[in-house]
Amino acid sequence: MICEIESNERLSGDIFDMRVVSDALASAKPGQIAHFLCGAKALRRPLSVADAADGKARFLYEVRGEGTRYLSALHAGDTVDVLGPVGQGFTVTEGRALLVGGGIGVFPLLSLARAYGDRSAALLGFRSADAVVCDGDFERFCDSVAVITDDGSSGRRGYVSELLEEALTYVGGLVDIIHVCGPRAMMASCATVAERFGVRCEVSMEERMACGIGACLGCAVKMKGKSGVETYRRACADGPVFDAADIDWS
Ligand SMILES: Cc1cc2nc3c(=O)[nH]c(=O)nc-3n(C[C@H](O)[C@H](O)[C@H](O)COP(=O)(O)OP(=O)(O)OC[C@H]3O[C@@H](n4cnc5c(N)ncnc54)[C@H](O)[C@@H]3O)c2cc1C
Ligand code: FES
Repeated sequence: MICEIESNERLSGDIFDMRVVSDALASAKPGQIAHFLCGAKALRRPLSVADAADGKARFLYEVRGEGTRYLSALHAGDTVDVLGPVGQGFTVTEGRALLVGGGIGVFPLLSLARAYGDRSAALLGFRSADAVVCDGDFERFCDSVAVITDDGSSGRRGYVSELLEEALTYVGGLVDIIHVCGPRAMMASCATVAERFGVRCEVSMEERMACGIGACLGCAVKMKGKSGVETYRRACADGPVFDAADIDWS
């Protein structure tokens, strides 16, 4: 599908904010992804639909290599070849949700913030103050937003899993579900905390992808197998969102 780019601006550092005109992409459910053709690169690059409204989808991305560098050079009015929305997104419940993001893992949580509105609280963890991004966007939708950084240069010093533990200690009984996206170790810690408090937890697994359509098994996520049998599921087709309790975090 060829789509027009409405805007593609640098937010800060290597982070870009791109809005794409497309009713199909704008119909994405929170946590779904889209695969972008990046110039001559054979493999499409997956990005989460960060927000969707009014016939436009918003993508927030960090320039990491050639593919995302190609995207960052596109301008308003240019077109882009996109496949999506695809994958299984987050479950939006009728209750209260904690949105827990780490680094650029906060991006897919933004559409959840819109969906839950003041039934949600965001706990956002970053390396340092210069990596803090989108906190203002979460403030627009969520009941409360807390930022924590590894070095204490913005918000409190520590890890976002500590904030989660504190939040569950004080208001755990009111929380219906926890949605998490970030580095694997951070998601594993959050999954452990959620399990301890007995609160349902979903994670978005950002595995490296190849075909993006469920054919190559390149994005396999190891699940807790039954009776010692190893079980894998495809992040691109069966995920990227999974129940944290089903994942083998070892
Ligand atoms: C389900 C899913 C959703 C994603 N959503 C977003 C998003 O919303 N915003 C965003 O900025 N990025 C997102 N990513 C990561 C993004 O797809 C990669 O950063 C991008 O494909 C890198 O392509 P590249 O050609 O620029 O870099 P490459 O040259 O392919 O890689 C550059 C560097 O990035 C690392 N890298 C590449 N892919 C990943 C990955 N999946 N996880 C960790 N490290 C990786 C490589 O190991 C390498 O060090 C998502 C990935 C997945 C699987
Ligand atoms: S990337 Fe090929 S199966 Fe998921």
